[in-house]
Amino acid sequence: MSKQNSLGITINTLRNMRTQGEKIACLTAYDSSFAQLLDDAGIDVILVGDSLGMVIQGGSSTVSVTMEDMLYHTHCVSSRCQNALLIADMPFMSYTTLETALHNATRLMQEAGAQMVKLEATQRQTEIVAELSACGIPVCAHLGLRPQYVHKLGSYQTQAKDQVSAEELLATSIALEQAGADLLLLECVPAELASKVTDSVSLPVIGIGAGNHCNGQILVLQDILGITAGAPPSFVKNFMQQCSIQDAVKKYIYEVKAGLFPDR
Ligand code: KIV
Repeated sequence: MSKQNSLGITINTLRNMRTQGEKIACLTAYDSSFAQLLDDAGIDVILVGDSLGMVIQGGSSTVSVTMEDMLYHTHCVSSRCQNALLIADMPFMSYTTLETALHNATRLMQEAGAQMVKLEATQRQTEIVAELSACGIPVCAHLGLRPQYVHKLGSYQTQAKDQVSAEELLATSIALEQAGADLLLLECVPAELASKVTDSVSLPVIGIGAGNHCNGQILVLQDILGITAGAPPSFVKNFMQQCSIQDAVKKYIYEVKAGLFPDR
């Protein structure tokens, strides 16, 4: 299915999948070859994540990733992403004001071919989400562990473990949905909290290190292929066991949809 003739998977598809209880399988990609491979394997969503700062550029965080980097990699991926919904990350400091957020999100969609933008969100970003949404830009709000804040957080540890911060995250999720967010992504939060958030909102919720009750899962492609430099995060599973890359991706999609991954 070509996007020239068809939109492929849209936010309506993802909403229907949530309603029908079909799990949404998502992976990152940063180049056209892997975009094609994931698309052919039947992935629902491809994210051009700012994780490229570590995976592609070899850095120790996502903080150094620029708008030009995101435009370049999103353009590479969009050239071969025929069916999956294509989301691009808004990099560090690219959405500090309404004007910069609107300008940079427009560039990701118009110049690079993104169909949705993702930004790391707290209550402070609800206004920005509302503005983007009102202007016709679909938004995925990324909550929980927000890697762009790593130097403020001091680590990449699980977030919202105490009651106060868990309630705050739940309230923020609801506020972001009301502001017009189309998708929520929960990273490294307790499974019980992720489950509560999922049941408290009506938009699709994607998890990473957030248990198996979310409406879908996302992982970094290089992590499922077992080619991550250094030790991968504990929630990662290597699907590349004596098989081809295509088979590993298909096994990941199958296990997400069957509710087998993550196993708790
Ligand atoms: O940047 C990224 O790849 C991400 C995923 C890990 C969710 O945000």
